[in-house]
Amino acid sequence: MSVLKSLMISVSIMLAAVLAGCSGAGENRDEGGEAAGAKWVIGMSQCNLGEPWRVQMNADIRRAAGEHPELKVVFKDAQNDNLRQRAHVEEYVSSGVDLLIISPKEAAPLTPPVHEAFRAGIPVIVLDRRVLGEDYTCFIGADNRKIGKAAGVWIAERLGGRGKVVELKGLMTSTPGQDRHTGFREGIADTGIEIIFEADMQWLEPEARGEMESALARFDRIDLVYAHNDPGAHGAWLAAKAAGREREMVFVGIDGLPQEGQAYVRQGILAASFEYPTGGREAIETALKILAGEQTPKEITLRSKVYTRENIDSDGQWLD
Ligand code: FRU
Repeated sequence: MSVLKSLMISVSIMLAAVLAGCSGAGENRDEGGEAAGAKWVIGMSQCNLGEPWRVQMNADIRRAAGEHPELKVVFKDAQNDNLRQRAHVEEYVSSGVDLLIISPKEAAPLTPPVHEAFRAGIPVIVLDRRVLGEDYTCFIGADNRKIGKAAGVWIAERLGGRGKVVELKGLMTSTPGQDRHTGFREGIADTGIEIIFEADMQWLEPEARGEMESALARFDRIDLVYAHNDPGAHGAWLAAKAAGREREMVFVGIDGLPQEGQAYVRQGILAASFEYPTGGREAIETALKILAGEQTPKEITLRSKVYTRENIDSDGQWLD
């Protein structure tokens, strides 16, 4: 496949994701569907809408909320800016939303506004990336350490216990990046896998591509690239493709969206993609319980699958 063709595929994936999000979430835009007659207003603070996965999360929230006319959801997109996301949370608090859902960019900078909202008596659901401390109502997300470990075990097996690996990490000031790294290292412990290059690509495809260009320039032999998300794995593949070396190595990513990671597995670009569910539907189900005054667990852990060439046609395989 030419680089141009694969770029076109990336663009169409982004377009499909934006369309899946219907109207595209503009800042301060009310996308709550059946707003008239709504009894509860939920503020949703999204850290960015640059990746298909986050567009999907908003779409999942919107779809689930759409089945409940008593809910109105207001979305704000922080465009990958901690300060902007902090301001959004403060705006939701001062406008008196009934519940806040936040998928924070980074843990430390977003902890104080979440703490303020929670202390002001607003229930807070933290989705996917964590904040520090315990000042929130419920955390919902998959177990990133477990996913990272499963990826490590899978990779060690795939490489027959030894090989040279590049690790392209997600933003290491966000908790999924930390956990996908720690879990991965646990998964490859006591094997002959050698990490020859590691870099923080901040969850971003162009950054991953740039880092991979450096890795390719430095190393004649690379057996596998483990990227903490599918955009990162795809960026690495684009770099290897441009260098004419993509067939020398294997690419593994995380997210496993049907229109992204699963499609890359089908196309033979990725050897495996580990699913990272968005939790959007579960956030709305949990919000409804909280608003009805029911008790909810402090932590809801979502299950995850792995998609490979072998299992993609049978819809992947659950991690234990
Ligand atoms: C999107 C994303 C996903 C990743 C998640 C981690 O912004 O980078 O690709 O799985 O965030 O929080």
